Amino acid sequence: MKTSTMTSTRVLTFSLIVSLLTFCHGDLQQEDEFLYDTFPEGFRWGFATAAYQIEGAWNIDGKGESIWDRFTHRLVSPIIDGSNGDIACDSYHKYPRDVELLKSMGVQFYRFSISWSRVLPRGTNDLVNEVGISYYNNLINLLISNNIIPMVTMYHWDLPQNLQSQFGGWPNETLIEHFENYARLLYERFGDRVKHWMTFNVRILGEATEPYKCAHTILKSHAKAYRLYEREFKEWQNGEVGIVIDSEFMQPDNPDDPTHVEAAERALRFKHGWFAFPVFFGDYPSVMRELVDARSEAEGRNASRLPTLDEEWQTMLRGSFDFLGVNHYTTELVRPAAAQGLPGWSGDQQVSKRKDPSWEGSASAWLKKVPWGFRKYLNWLKNTYDNPVMYITENGWSDDGRDPTNDTSRSLFYRDYINNVLKAVKLDGVNIKGYTAWSLMDNFEWANGFTDRFGVHWVDFTDPERQVIPKDSSVVLKKIFEDNGFVEE
Ligand SMILES: *[C@@H]1O[C@H](CO)[C@@H](O)[C@H](O)[C@H]1NC(C)=O
Ligand SMILES: *[C@@H]1O[C@H](CO)[C@@H](O)[C@H](O)[C@H]1NC(C)=O
Ligand SMILES: *[C@@H]1O[C@H](CO)[C@@H](O)[C@H](O)[C@H]1NC(C)=O
Repeated sequence: MKTSTMTSTRVLTFSLIVSLLTFCHGDLQQEDEFLYDTFPEGFRWGFATAAYQIEGAWNIDGKGESIWDRFTHRLVSPIIDGSNGDIACDSYHKYPRDVELLKSMGVQFYRFSISWSRVLPRGTNDLVNEVGISYYNNLINLLISNNIIPMVTMYHWDLPQNLQSQFGGWPNETLIEHFENYARLLYERFGDRVKHWMTFNVRILGEATEPYKCAHTILKSHAKAYRLYEREFKEWQNGEVGIVIDSEFMQPDNPDDPTHVEAAERALRFKHGWFAFPVFFGDYPSVMRELVDARSEAEGRNASRLPTLDEEWQTMLRGSFDFLGVNHYTTELVRPAAAQGLPGWSGDQQVSKRKDPSWEGSASAWLKKVPWGFRKYLNWLKNTYDNPVMYITENGWSDDGRDPTNDTSRSLFYRDYINNVLKAVKLDGVNIKGYTAWSLMDNFEWANGFTDRFGVHWVDFTDPERQVIPKDSSVVLKKIFEDNGFVEE
């Protein structure tokens, strides 16, 4: 079934049949007709940010150092423009501005993260920083008084430096206990008002050789935090706890070649399934178990690089979610390849990935615009995990920020990607409850510093006041939020 002949004159029912067929054959490589329709009543709209990317105040009011503070302060800066998050958007001091921006956009919720080392400077619960607690109380209260629901990420990459220095960070399972203590503190202090928790924002950065141990500790920590809430808080706080997993969609490079189809599925299981299979089903995907075990043995190791979850952990993990958080930006074209490179996650998959050169590029090398990939990805999630409750927890587009207002490419990105979410919901029955744009305003984009800008508000990082200017996309996005979808003009 080739879709290249599809024209915009086709009637909706026919394109529906075509799209159903193409989902079976997996070769939809271009956009369907734009869908004018609205999301179901009660669908929620919001923005996401992360503490290190916006807060600043890195060493103020008792905050402890995080690994990102330490990393960006290296003598030879690892950040592309030599910048850091010391001040960033200065949201620590200017959170009322953030709430004003959210209000002006007409959102129902705000997804932000808590800086672990701001509330527990050493990462351990022997020292609680009450000034840090107050900051989040003030933010949460201001959101609620403006009818904006707080959705809180507990961990968005800024591990307290002390946990790194003392225990070696995530490879050390000692961190499970410290994360559980941290989660307890958050439930105790904020759970009367925060009803939507995300334990981890999971995304594997770079091609580290041994990320499996870190993931193992993170999964166990997630399970502990989920079960703690279920056991001691859920009954009276009535909230929900989920996990956020970031993945590209993996499209078979040649959809007519079964080995490419298989390679794409394998890549999805290595990327998304790595975290989601334990959370949904209790264990790692079998394809990971087989490939990593075999390669570890070939390397002459006495144990697999992929650790094992025993019965007790499997039981604790299986079903440890109330919803799935979906971070999605782009798509890869995947084909099989020999195991390659250093022992590690990347080579273990036996795939190679590429981007189609015709895909529109953003300011970020990794981010190309592939709207149809989003719909296919959402259908893959639906089919793989039995249609769980999902929130889109991140989706967005970067530019270089040289023009503070004209961001046409971002407006078109949001329009086209959200239209594919709409198709997934209305035509495919994917169970999505809300959409979160990344991001409310330009912020510190990790290793890319301030060169890649994802905001719908432009931030002047040379101005001590951190003035913000609405970009054109803020108007486009606000209209989509207001209309709860797309109304034909
Ligand atoms: C983990 O932390 C404990 C407690 O400090 C320490 O004894 C152990 O050596 C650490 N393990 C690793 C692998 O670093
Ligand atoms: C396996 O090898 C590692 C070093 O690679 C060693 O630390 C460990 O003790 C060995 N385990 C067993 C069970 O032999
Ligand atoms: C905005 O920029 C695009 C090119 O990126 C250009 O085509 C368009 O005309 C510009 N719009 C305005 C209003 O300047």
